Amino acid sequence: MKCAVCRGPAVIDLRRHNANFCADHFLKFCRDQVVRAIDDHAMIGLGDKVVVAVSGGKDSLALWDVLVDLGYDAEGMTIGLGIGDYSAASTEAAVAFAEGRGLTLHRVDLREDYDYDIPTASAVTNRVPCSSCGMSKRHLIDKAALDGGYDVVATGHNLDDEAAVLFGNVLHWHTEYLGRQQPTLAERVGRAGSGDGRRVFPRKVKPLVRLAERETAAYCVLRGIDYIVEECPMAEGNRHLRYKEALNAVEAASPGAKQAFYFGFLDRAASRFAPDADGADEELPACGRCGSPTTGDVCAFCRLVERVAGREPVPVELVRPRRGGARRRQARTKARS
Ligand code: AMP
Ligand code: FES
Ligand code: ZN
Ligand code: ZN
Repeated sequence: MKCAVCRGPAVIDLRRHNANFCADHFLKFCRDQVVRAIDDHAMIGLGDKVVVAVSGGKDSLALWDVLVDLGYDAEGMTIGLGIGDYSAASTEAAVAFAEGRGLTLHRVDLREDYDYDIPTASAVTNRVPCSSCGMSKRHLIDKAALDGGYDVVATGHNLDDEAAVLFGNVLHWHTEYLGRQQPTLAERVGRAGSGDGRRVFPRKVKPLVRLAERETAAYCVLRGIDYIVEECPMAEGNRHLRYKEALNAVEAASPGAKQAFYFGFLDRAASRFAPDADGADEELPACGRCGSPTTGDVCAFCRLVERVAGREPVPVELVRPRRGGARRRQARTKARS
């Protein structure tokens, strides 16, 4: 197996590009893909202050590494979600990366700062963990960007993530979400009078959309980045993971299918759904507690905090088996046998 660029020994084969690369040229390939995503989708301007949302996993650490390498002014922020050992190890990986490179990492901790955690929120609200988790992350990442005066938030969503979300949105014809599924979401300013033109949502970008999961993992290995390998224990069996498996099967039979699906959507279909997402331009009133934009009087994050803060912590082990696909699959197997 030879590198497509220098003919030296290759370390990775990229079937969807019909090419193999040596370590150096693979790293260059990754950086080039990020540069192209940033250019194609007007993600980051010259001199923009960037905050990278860092989970401690391969994607967000690879992203932070590439952005710094490309010369961007990129700081990190990480949220301790309180999901047992998983969260502890995630935060550790993020901190170790930042310390090792002398980078600034801002930390938010749900338990310390808001007196709740994701397992407890899931148990109290009786909803799947991913729902309070996703909402808390969105709120706190936006808040960190706005409070910290950053021009743009970068997240580590990769091609596999975006193709899986697209697949789910198409399966259920969530046309409103399809209208909003873009690698760059523009910032939004508040209504003149109430918000007097201040930003209420920061610009959000996904510079890894041109890289597959396997590629960001290889990037980290080659760059010596220690990332947390485990997936979130609470996400087991969630729909998103099942869509990824389905798309992986298609990709294995037809390399490049995932990329064609996602970028074909962006090029030829996304704009057709834009009118369905029109509400996104509506000017939202501010939350009475925290000032975030909301459709009601109090935003979903403040309502969650009010409901779950100070409750007796529920250990992750107690929440996980009650929900998720693993147990449901087991139950069905039993019923059949
Ligand atoms: P996920 O929703 O876990 O697929 O993560 C998608 C992206 O959200 C990651 O690539 C990160 O950029 C960001 N993210 C996930 N978890 C955290 C966290 N605990 N703290 C900060 N950012 C996160
Ligand atoms: Fe959010 Fe697992 S990371 S529920
Ligand atoms: Zn080479
Ligand atoms: Zn609020």
